[in-house]
Amino acid sequence: MANASTMAPADSTERMTAIKGFWNEQARKHGTDLAATTPDPIAKDLEIGALKRHLDPALDTLEIGCGNGTDILRLLDHLRSRRVVGIDYAEDMIEAAKKSMSELSLADRSRVAVDVGDIMKDLTPLGRFSQIFTVRCLINLPTLDHQLQAVRNIDAILKPGGRLVLVESTKQGQERLNAMREAVGLEPISYHWHNLYLDQDAFLAGLPRHLKVVAIDSFASLYFVISRVFNAKMTPPGRAPDYLAEINTIAGQLPSIGDNAPLKLFVIQKEGRA
Ligand SMILES: C[S@@+](CC[C@H](N)C(=O)[O-])C[C@H]1O[C@@H](n2cnc3c(N)ncnc32)[C@H](O)[C@@H]1O
Repeated sequence: MANASTMAPADSTERMTAIKGFWNEQARKHGTDLAATTPDPIAKDLEIGALKRHLDPALDTLEIGCGNGTDILRLLDHLRSRRVVGIDYAEDMIEAAKKSMSELSLADRSRVAVDVGDIMKDLTPLGRFSQIFTVRCLINLPTLDHQLQAVRNIDAILKPGGRLVLVESTKQGQERLNAMREAVGLEPISYHWHNLYLDQDAFLAGLPRHLKVVAIDSFASLYFVISRVFNAKMTPPGRAPDYLAEINTIAGQLPSIGDNAPLKLFVIQKEGRA
């Protein structure tokens, strides 16, 4: 299946400009609402649960592609470190994130900062971090080379012994989910024009050798099968499946099984002593 649509500019630079424009537009339209970055509140709950399982609460932490600040806000009760930073290249996302952060307690405001920053640029002015995470950020880069360059940019500011946690979507997961949909007569889910899902095998093979994948958590597998296959199949033709349908809510409460969703979490450890 083509990972593009007729809307997508062919050239990488033009594509990146158009994608950034898309995210700024999302922020202008939805402000601090969850809808700015996802239409699916249950998938977001699962992302937050998975991040809480894999982020070390004690470590200074950076989120790259923090959007309007949803993840940081929801993780603050877990992340107890004195330094929690978020960056995003979409200026309007950061404006919304700053608005949300302004409502934090004084104590939290003193340890949290959000600012404009691009994962494709030199990140060293931010200083170094023990823990860095992304949530559906790398999938907005136009090629595998850009995705791997982004990881090298992260590596440059990740302390030895540090942890990188990536919540990203893979093309292999999407293909397995679509095979299930096709088995019950549903159309495959197509990719958004602004996304390039990770080619998991090529991406992992291209990581620097000192970055070791120590865990892969397919936290959304069961939820995607139930919401995108069962609920989609049960929805009357011509109607859009309801993200908050009861069957989805039930699925969101169950432990995940299998590896049949695009969305998953990678824990990557940098060699060296912290
Ligand atoms: C799907 S949204 C997720 C936002 C947030 N992590 C969340 O889950 O609510 C992806 C975010 O990545 C940001 N992004 C995409 N490319 C980026 C880049 N090159 N540098 C920094 N942020 C980027 C977008 O602006 C957008 O806010």
